[in-house]
Amino acid sequence: MTRPLRPPSPGEMAAPAVNAREAAGAARSQAYRDGMARIASAVHVIATDGPAGRTGFTATAVTSISDAPPTLLVCLNRASASAARLVANGVFCVNTLAADQAGLAEDFAGRSGLHGEARFSHGVWTTLATGAPLLDGALASFDCRLVEVRDIATHHVLVGEVEAVRIGTAGESLVYLDRAYRSVTGG
Ligand SMILES: Cc1cc2nc3c(=O)[nH]c(=O)nc-3n(C[C@H](O)[C@H](O)[C@H](O)COP(=O)(O)O)c2cc1C
Repeated sequence: MTRPLRPPSPGEMAAPAVNAREAAGAARSQAYRDGMARIASAVHVIATDGPAGRTGFTATAVTSISDAPPTLLVCLNRASASAARLVANGVFCVNTLAADQAGLAEDFAGRSGLHGEARFSHGVWTTLATGAPLLDGALASFDCRLVEVRDIATHHVLVGEVEAVRIGTAGESLVYLDRAYRSVTGG
């Protein structure tokens, strides 16, 4: 039996164009990630504590904004478990990792299966001015109060005013490059 011919519906006609646009968007995102993999970045653990609970995550998207007053920014995926807690707590500490702290970077990236409070089972943690967790042995720790949140694409841009800084012992820096941890020696 033959089917009667009918014109394609608007949805059927639009499908190839939509798929082509989605494919081009996905290729552009992949090229962006591949380009970013060529950039050597310091690795930090961003930790927060307060009424919403203690948690933290590994981040490379950390940038200085100003030294007067000392201000920095961190980009945090809004879909992460840390996002709501950090914003509710209103404080966070940027702990810049030394080369021998790659294990902590993996823990706080969720790659060891640890979540929330359980991520603090390794390392020695204290506090400084805001009550956010500060990591012993970090190269430097920047204790921040959250002063602004901007939502851009998938991420929160968290602007923190630095209330206190602890400079750790100088040593090799942990760096992420080509999707792997490396170490960089200063001086
Ligand atoms: C080297 C490295 C760098 C990362 N940088 C960021 C970052 O800058 N921002 C971000 O939102 N996630 C970043 N991530 C991913 C988070 O650490 C990861 O999604 C984490 O599990 C979030 O935890 P949560 O969902 O418990 O909040 C990075 C992961 C790795 C391994």
